Amino acid sequence: MEKQNWVTVMDEQDLVGTDPGEVVAFDIELDSGETLAVGLVCDPNEDSGWMAFENICSHDGEGMEEGEVNLRDCTIECPRHGAKFDVKTGEVLSMPAVTNIRTFDIRITDGMIQLYL
Ligand code: FES
Repeated sequence: MEKQNWVTVMDEQDLVGTDPGEVVAFDIELDSGETLAVGLVCDPNEDSGWMAFENICSHDGEGMEEGEVNLRDCTIECPRHGAKFDVKTGEVLSMPAVTNIRTFDIRITDGMIQLYL
């Protein structure tokens, strides 16, 4: 199993002006050479103010930054075919997806956004 670490992904200042429920999408280059697509959901109810998930729909690989977010039940709906996921746990909640997505713990240290990868 690959070792996990807290990884700094951006300056918190880069996210100033993001609205609650808005998704910020970006890629992370991993040491393995792979690229990880990540989505951050602005959620004032979270300690860090954010939730983080792997931004690839498990149904057919769509990026979900244009998907509909519901902060009351912490869900995101894929804009392509409508699969719904729990953004906190990654659990798939509705078809046509049948596989969960990854989610990541998130923290802010010295003004920098870090994900546990
Ligand atoms: S690609 Fe997301 S529901 Fe089909």
